[in-house]
Amino acid sequence: MTIQFNDETFRDDYTFRNSDWAIRRFPFPFHEDSYMYSVNMEQHRGGPAGSVYEKRFDVDEHYISEMRDRALVLAEDPLRCQSLPHMTLAGWDLLELIMVSKSEDYPDLFELHRKGDTWRWINKPLGIDDTFTFMDDASLPYGPMEYITRQSQGDFAVLDQRENNLWMDAGMITTQADWSLDFDIGMNFFEWHAPVPRAHEMGVFKRALKFLLNIQQGSPARRLNWTMTVNPLLDTSPENYHKWGVQKTTLTPENIGRKQHLRVELQTFYRLPRSNALVFPIRCYLIALDDLVTVPKWGRRLHRVIRDLPEDLASYKGFIRNRPLILEYLSQYDDGKPTSPGI
Ligand code: HEM
Repeated sequence: MTIQFNDETFRDDYTFRNSDWAIRRFPFPFHEDSYMYSVNMEQHRGGPAGSVYEKRFDVDEHYISEMRDRALVLAEDPLRCQSLPHMTLAGWDLLELIMVSKSEDYPDLFELHRKGDTWRWINKPLGIDDTFTFMDDASLPYGPMEYITRQSQGDFAVLDQRENNLWMDAGMITTQADWSLDFDIGMNFFEWHAPVPRAHEMGVFKRALKFLLNIQQGSPARRLNWTMTVNPLLDTSPENYHKWGVQKTTLTPENIGRKQHLRVELQTFYRLPRSNALVFPIRCYLIALDDLVTVPKWGRRLHRVIRDLPEDLASYKGFIRNRPLILEYLSQYDDGKPTSPGI
């Protein structure tokens, strides 16, 4: 289908909206009535037509507005995009992966024409038509990772693999759930996950790392993660906590359905060919509770998940203070009926 791009904001007046199409394809993350951390990884081999899993890099109605928001974040804080010197090759790998995938998956929106090392990239939604020399940094206006991730929804962490570990040595991180690339740069898998409750003791990270170290080229994997965000904010970074943290105090029974959003991350994992780096795209989808409850089984299930989530997880995810209000709202949509497993 042809995508109708929204003209919307993720800050100030928050004009972000999901169309009925976006609501129907929202990646609701709960396949049962409760939630606990697990190694919830699966192969990323596409998915049902129209779903967010269908294409390698999902492009939706928020594309142009999300890219505008990213540019605003970078203008205020260039450290949201960093690449240590040894990661430039991985940046070129990533540029190639995204350009090839998007031009194959969305030929009406993106074109890639290659003659030897001379590449022409056409991005119609953003009005870009650039010719450059592949692997020549000087032929692009930014480094290769920055160039392509300014044109791709979601955050991107690029991990170097060495010493049986992954190292966060590059990334474009402007739509994160309260963590900082500038703080985590150079850390390894266990170090950057240190603040997460329970998962270390449960052995989740040891097993997850083993899985990731073995991901092969051409066999990407994926998982979902989730949290809650007040207002449709993409940039919930520690750097800007002074701007968005206080917004959590503005919820009332009257406005909660519009303001409280479920935030779901579709996380994918791709092995890159020349550098052997692993790229971790983190694509954020937001949905207001008022829209979510239009699907009765989602409203019912989210109520039960939020109600029964252990305190330390609700606290880590940052909504412990608003949990009573959220439950009061969601309980109206839980008729007590049993739900069936699956989404
Ligand atoms: C949280 C990065 C892979 C499980 C996080 C955080 C970061 C991160 C930066 C936030 C930590 C903080 O509070 O500062 C990454 C990167 C990955 C990766 C770059 C790719 C290599 C995985 C995998 C799992 C996982 C494969 C599988 C189980 C989690 C969990 C949380 C977390 C459970 C807590 C999330 C929440 O409760 O909202 N990750 N992660 N991560 N990560 Fe990962």
